[in-house]
Amino acid sequence: YWNVDKIVDGLEDYPQVHEAAAIVRNNGLIAFPTETVYGLGGNGLVDETVEKIYTAKGRPSDNPLILHIADRVQLNELVAEIPLMAEALMEAFWPGPLTIVFPKKPGVAMRASAGLDTVAIRMPDHPLALALIRAAQLPIAAPSANLSGRPSPTTAQHVLEDLDGRIDGVLDGGPTGIGVESTVVDITGDVPMILRPGGVTAEQIVEITGEVAIDPGILGEEAAPKSPGMKYRHYAPKGEMWLVRGENPAQMTQRVRELARAAADEGKKVGILATEESVHSYDGGYTVVPCGERSDLISVARRLYDVLRQFDQAGVDVIFAETFPESGVGAAIMNRLAKAAGNRYL
Ligand code: TXA
Ligand code: MG
Repeated sequence: YWNVDKIVDGLEDYPQVHEAAAIVRNNGLIAFPTETVYGLGGNGLVDETVEKIYTAKGRPSDNPLILHIADRVQLNELVAEIPLMAEALMEAFWPGPLTIVFPKKPGVAMRASAGLDTVAIRMPDHPLALALIRAAQLPIAAPSANLSGRPSPTTAQHVLEDLDGRIDGVLDGGPTGIGVESTVVDITGDVPMILRPGGVTAEQIVEITGEVAIDPGILGEEAAPKSPGMKYRHYAPKGEMWLVRGENPAQMTQRVRELARAAADEGKKVGILATEESVHSYDGGYTVVPCGERSDLISVARRLYDVLRQFDQAGVDVIFAETFPESGVGAAIMNRLAKAAGNRYL
């Protein structure tokens, strides 16, 4: 465990970063912060190491991993071609929370891409992540550093809760900024297709590419999701979770109040996912957790996974969650909430 939270400049020269990078080069596993969530990193080019990542997380083996790179030279070694559309997206959003699915160069990173002929790549916008990748001189395969089925980690503490004893080290860079994972976009077709909503919004992508498709599988429609990871119910809170809609925030709060009272009358321990604006409208006796400000969805995304973990810690029987507009980063927030709630709306 290395705390490098306070280091601002010259991360590349720090011994902690070099120790961690040496572990990666020796096929060990290191958790590290990115601007989205913490990743569980290992040498992306060695199949046995990638296998260890799957084992440490308890992840289904048909779900491919993202390779994290620090420069364009690394990209050229992994992909078969770089379409113009990808060029434009990289120019606009790298380094940043956009993962691009490319046609894979034959023979590369077999295990990380779970047998697909594509490979998912991202250049994270975090000085510590970039320093680690540069020092390791390898593409680092990294899923989110949580146990499969738990909320993604946004602090080193979350990582240790899930993976202590299963990995070789954690670089603690403090809480992550964005709080939900990167957007995954497939550019192997004519139109870029969002396979997972995340830190870069559909609106931002359209500005660059002119058009964008959303994989119907992630909207809860009939089709199977194109991104293998999206078919799994990522996180199920121990308590039964319900997403509460309303015509406006005041009506939503009113409905949550009524639902909470009814559940408490049945003797249930109630959790409420609220906002800074609404937190004081709820009665005492419930586990009410504010999840950022409704007026600032970026702050909601940043708090989301920590709040979900808090409900599990409190041991609530039922959770009523306020819902959010699906524009901007709201698409990612509602995607993660809907998965956590098993698509149960009220
Ligand atoms: O923000 C993030 O993306 C974080 C940080 C650590 O970078 N990583 C992350 O990784 O969320 P993970 O493994 O939890 O999610 C990767 C997603 C999964 O839904 C997976 O199915 C999809 O990317 N994916 C990976 N390779 C793919 C491919 N070749 N084609 C389609 N989807 C792919
Ligand atoms: Mg994940």
